[in-house]
Amino acid sequence: MAEKLIELKEITKQFPGVLANDRVSLDIEKGEIHAIIGENGAGKSTLMKILYGLYQPTSGEIYFKGKPVSIKTPLDAIKLGIGMVHQHFMLVPSFTVAENIVLGVEPRKNRFMMDYRKAVSITEELSKTYGLKVDPNAKVESLSVGIQQRIEILKVLNKGADIIILDEPTAVLTPQETEELFKVIRKLVEELGKTVIIITHKLQEVLALSDRVSVMRQGRLVGTLKTKDATEQILAEMMVGREVLFEELNRIEVPREEVLTVKGIKARDNRGLMALKGVSFSLYSGEILGIAGVEGNGQSELVEVLTGLRQAEEGSVMIKGVEATNKEPMEIRNLGVSHIPEDRLATGLSKKATITENMILGYHNREPYATKGIHMNKKPIRERVSRLIKEFDVRTPSQDVTADKLSGGNMQKMVIAREFSFDSSILIVAQPTRGVDIGAIEFIHKEIIKKRNEGAAILLVSADLDEIFRLSDRIITIYEGEITGEFKRREISKKEIGLYMTGKRKGMRQGGVQDEEI
Ligand SMILES: Nc1ncnc2c1ncn2[C@@H]1O[C@H](COP(=O)(O)OP(=O)(O)OP(=O)(O)O)[C@@H](O)[C@H]1O
Ligand SMILES: [Mg+2]
Repeated sequence: MAEKLIELKEITKQFPGVLANDRVSLDIEKGEIHAIIGENGAGKSTLMKILYGLYQPTSGEIYFKGKPVSIKTPLDAIKLGIGMVHQHFMLVPSFTVAENIVLGVEPRKNRFMMDYRKAVSITEELSKTYGLKVDPNAKVESLSVGIQQRIEILKVLNKGADIIILDEPTAVLTPQETEELFKVIRKLVEELGKTVIIITHKLQEVLALSDRVSVMRQGRLVGTLKTKDATEQILAEMMVGREVLFEELNRIEVPREEVLTVKGIKARDNRGLMALKGVSFSLYSGEILGIAGVEGNGQSELVEVLTGLRQAEEGSVMIKGVEATNKEPMEIRNLGVSHIPEDRLATGLSKKATITENMILGYHNREPYATKGIHMNKKPIRERVSRLIKEFDVRTPSQDVTADKLSGGNMQKMVIAREFSFDSSILIVAQPTRGVDIGAIEFIHKEIIKKRNEGAAILLVSADLDEIFRLSDRIITIYEGEITGEFKRREISKKEIGLYMTGKRKGMRQGGVQDEEI
């Protein structure tokens, strides 16, 4: 029998109006990789925050190596060797890597001064021990999310963690970065004797990585099983309490009209490097155009240029025949463009505003929600928001709580519900299902197809190739700021697309032409 390192016994957590954990009993064995899965709002993050001392359970006990312990703060958790990397990163962007890694446990020259050189050598040492490459002097804000996550992990290891909790670490990673992370996790466990608890929505990852898996649903533990006894089907059913079928999506032919014309766009990224080196394509009504690419090849910058969040240095954007290059976000929105931003939590919502305020945004000054653009009409606003909450299954105790009370995935669903509710003829959708559970993925995919069938033009940016293939009518590949190919979905395989995503080029047809029927 493996040693039980941690035993959670009958843990209950009651938030106002929400029973987030309902008598959850779970044990973690030494040296295992234990996956925790469940729908958005099932209580996964809450349970782990209790173990990490961020929340106190309403009732229940925690045993550590067979003895009851009280974990009142993260400091108590760290003393026991428990560390956590959160769902939303908590690094200081303007600090260097070394400064972030030693944050809270800074080596000091004296009472007032941190010993920066020491911080750098600590970072180098850690980096070597764990085989996680980082540049100690780089500013965090200039680094990719994959590297930022590596820093979060090093930070936890620097505090002496033996048990590492990772809350949805792969939600923001590319497939390549995910591979890297898994190698690191395996090394931590197999060579360095660590124990890892990982929360994820991706069942394939659970099967590929974990030794055991626990499934949560509506605050309860449905069960724990050995991964070798699990299949995607079994896990999906345990998660949602019913069979999850990814049916073929129904497409109908819709009249096509060019609604977005992008010509020769050049733009720089945040570091001032050329991120888009002359991108041209057209988008038509009634189609989903997927942009496939390894993250960091200009897709984010492209979306920002199209939505008015980034300046293009050259080239032009026409929206339904109207010149829209470098226009303000509000002007672009008024041309009928909706935008689901990739970083919804940073740019899509306000955490301190209520669900109602967040969800009426963009409509707040229109009839019937406002009279003369100023006076807010409570009743229609509440009715609209309550309908959206129901339709998109945003799990919240009420529409009056602030957005920070929602689980990560439910925050995402809130933004998606709002953007889909606009009557927009063009939707720019970035990573629509990142961080949402499989039931919600199915729902969001159906909504996207519905919009398409109603005649909307949809530009879909996704790092998830399965998603690109499932939804797109046409696919373009992007590599290092240039379009490397354009394909009808049915004329190319995933494997082949992968080649174009990494630099292979196709003789482009002129201006991204939409020739025969798809
Ligand atoms: N600080 C809080 N105050 C009030 N309610 C909260 C708070 N944090 C979480 N909740 C509620 O507790 C429930 C469980 O949330 P939790 O964040 O644990 O879900 P999760 O399983 O991690 O979901 P996701 O997959 O979306 O991240 C949700 O209904 C959420 O709205
Ligand atoms: Mg969570």
